[in-house]
Amino acid sequence: CGIVGVVGSQNTKNILLNGLHKLEYRGYDSAGIMISHNEEMFVTKTPGRVAELEALVANKESAGTGIGHTRWATHGEPTENNAHPHLSKSGRFGLVHNGVIENFEWLKETYLSDITLSGDTDSEIVVEVVDYFSKQGLSTIDAFSKMLEEVKGSYALALIDTEDDSQIFLAKNKSPLLVGLADGYNLVGSDAMAMINETDRFVEIMDGEKIILSATNMLILNKDNEEVTRDFYVAEIDANDTEKGLYPHYMLKEIDEQPAVMRTLIQEYVTPTGESTIPVEIVSEMAESDRIYVVGCGTSWHAGLVGKKMLEELTQIPVEVHLASEMGYDMPILSKKPFFIFLTQSGETADSRQVLVKINEMKLPSLTITNVKGSTLSREATHTLLLHAGPEIAVASTKAYTSQISVMLFLAKALGEKLGQEKAKGLDIVHELGIVAAAMESLVDDKDHYSELSQSFLNETRNAFYIGRGLDYAVSLEGALKLKEISYIQAEGFAAGELKHGTIALIEKGTPVVALISNKEMGSHTRGNIKEVESRGAKSLVIALEGLEKETDAIVLPHVHELVTPLVTVIPLQLLAYYASLQRDLDVDKPRNLAKSVTVE
Ligand code: G6P
Repeated sequence: CGIVGVVGSQNTKNILLNGLHKLEYRGYDSAGIMISHNEEMFVTKTPGRVAELEALVANKESAGTGIGHTRWATHGEPTENNAHPHLSKSGRFGLVHNGVIENFEWLKETYLSDITLSGDTDSEIVVEVVDYFSKQGLSTIDAFSKMLEEVKGSYALALIDTEDDSQIFLAKNKSPLLVGLADGYNLVGSDAMAMINETDRFVEIMDGEKIILSATNMLILNKDNEEVTRDFYVAEIDANDTEKGLYPHYMLKEIDEQPAVMRTLIQEYVTPTGESTIPVEIVSEMAESDRIYVVGCGTSWHAGLVGKKMLEELTQIPVEVHLASEMGYDMPILSKKPFFIFLTQSGETADSRQVLVKINEMKLPSLTITNVKGSTLSREATHTLLLHAGPEIAVASTKAYTSQISVMLFLAKALGEKLGQEKAKGLDIVHELGIVAAAMESLVDDKDHYSELSQSFLNETRNAFYIGRGLDYAVSLEGALKLKEISYIQAEGFAAGELKHGTIALIEKGTPVVALISNKEMGSHTRGNIKEVESRGAKSLVIALEGLEKETDAIVLPHVHELVTPLVTVIPLQLLAYYASLQRDLDVDKPRNLAKSVTVE
């Protein structure tokens, strides 16, 4: 979920709506705003998108103090009742919440046995608990503090007291929240992007703090209610980066941006004289480690599978890749000197963060590779490397995947060189990624071809399989994820050789099987697996690297270095998924049930 708030502006409604649009990547099941001004107030909420909310509040007053929310449902369905802001029964307090309250049953039984709740979310309980303490005679800040003492779980909270709407009360635990300082009014939001049209000056909020934010002041109190002072920082984000321009969808724009991102990365990570710009502290600390643990979710985890190969090949340090949601609760036996890499486009994924929290408790070194400077995982890890991909808005990740792989390659080379590995020294990364950029360009320029292929190959199918070996297997997983995320076709990626040990039972006449062939030796075995499925009725679509192709192959990819093939094999898969979604008339950028950044565990 995403939250935004404004204190003391004449234009509060529009700032809230604009912020919510920017936050829809965090969920778009329902949306709502509340504005309080001169003893007048309104709360409007709706299941569905921010655009629907916008229409509903078109005639409402704009000035005042307001809070807004866009939701990814956890407790309770995405109905109007369950949408935020939640108003207490008395009508006095309004609240927005991002996160999950774990002890909501206990809170309900302990404090709210007299109240019939209107929805079934954990968040509604929080505002009623504040109301309860307020009725016990506590001031609003004391009631808010008392509620925080009782509540367990993850949260970012913003509360308005309609009896004094000159301020907003804020607190966070695990979930992100940032204050933005503007001229004559102030803001709060789940991220900087939500406020960037208003200001570039931001102040971090730490877990356990309470903030009283007014139009001209920010009071920070620590756990012991002592005042804390903290300077703002200036964010370097270009508000225009988030516009999709002439593109019909962000996803297509982001697919197209990949060659440019490759070139940006070369500039960022290699000096004109060919030296790596990766800070020596990172490389030295990694060189000391006996094992690297890569942690991520979704597409980032898939990028990790590719990174493992690159890191092992160029550094000879063993690498394990873990799903954050598993590792957080089921920690493997760690080596003596582990080093952790967190892959996260947003830098906000709660599953990844909970692993980082554990790693930090163990005082182990870590590196976050992220697209978002100043994001939670970036702040909390020992080191950060940026993806320099520009904002990624479409839920289905594309350019973040290829930039994560590239950044890991720069890292693997720098580390391998430090360790004296010949392979690393011999890899001309600028040259190889330059070839990749050109190859990507030729692929993204060939859109009609992918549109036709998707039409003929994926039209009307309910399922599809992706197969490959080695790096092609890793990319198969990503290709299948892209397709299922946005086209709702059930798609699975498989190690080509494993298919015959069970999954081949699912192959029927006409089942689409996409096969990737980018490695000479393994490719010949994959060819054998293609024959196996074809002889059981499957229709295959073979994507092969130049030099390894056969006449019947649907797509031939320009030749690139064997270690970077995922950067090009993934492009046709991204485009196939895009067109499959488009041809089904689905919402490409905001597929059902998903969120760009999942901020709950
Ligand atoms: C969500 C998105 C995925 C993304 C994953 C990890 O589930 O829908 O596209 O890969 O989160 O996100 P992160 O920001 O940590 O890379």
